[in-house]
Amino acid sequence: MSTHINAKNGDIAEVVLMPGDPLRAKFVAEQFLEDAACYNEVRGMYGFTGTYKGKRVSVQGSGMGIPSFLIYATELLTEYGVKKILRIGTCGAISDKVQVRDVILGISANTTSAINRTRFAGYDFAPTADFGLLQTAYQIACEHGLQEKTHVAPILSTDEFYGHDEGLNAMYANYGVLGVEMEAAGLYTVAAQHNAKALAILTVSDHLLTGEATNAEERQKTFTDMMHIALETAIAE
Ligand code: HPA
Repeated sequence: MSTHINAKNGDIAEVVLMPGDPLRAKFVAEQFLEDAACYNEVRGMYGFTGTYKGKRVSVQGSGMGIPSFLIYATELLTEYGVKKILRIGTCGAISDKVQVRDVILGISANTTSAINRTRFAGYDFAPTADFGLLQTAYQIACEHGLQEKTHVAPILSTDEFYGHDEGLNAMYANYGVLGVEMEAAGLYTVAAQHNAKALAILTVSDHLLTGEATNAEERQKTFTDMMHIALETAIAE
């Protein structure tokens, strides 16, 4: 048992999928895992463990933003022996190189958060995905016919969803950053700290340049594509 996760030793698999929304974790467990059992309900931040193609996989809600994400990811890595975390989430597109319904595999995560300035005495740190997970996920996407719509690219993890700086996204887009979300830089940092493997797999839910957004049916289809990549990557190796 840890502070925010009420699970027993052995309740959680070595590989964990982390959506922001705890109800999304429940949906994934019910729709994609076999024999799923709930191990956590503290604060409504559901966590489940089941099997996918016979291999144990957990799915744990993270909440929104780096601070919430770090609480759950740190406890998974330090108290429950978790070795791999795959964030499954959405992002906003900030570049015309990407369209709604595309999938972005975040090779690195820039951030407006001060976590790494705090951790590294004012110096920079480059939060980076695990190469093996990234390579596997990209290969699975290609095999699944998703090559055209899957991007391996840097992303931006902001602290504020309702940010006031209109120029921020453009500034990062000019340096090849394709999407904005709120957790990946925390994930890559804490995974590095604890010698674990991490990857953020994101579907583009809305386009911040065109204002285009996905409808419910499209979101479901792209979500299923993302889940295929995430689950097959989770059980590979
Ligand atoms: N900003 C931050 N996080 C997001 C967005 C966004 O525009 N879209 C989906 N997640």
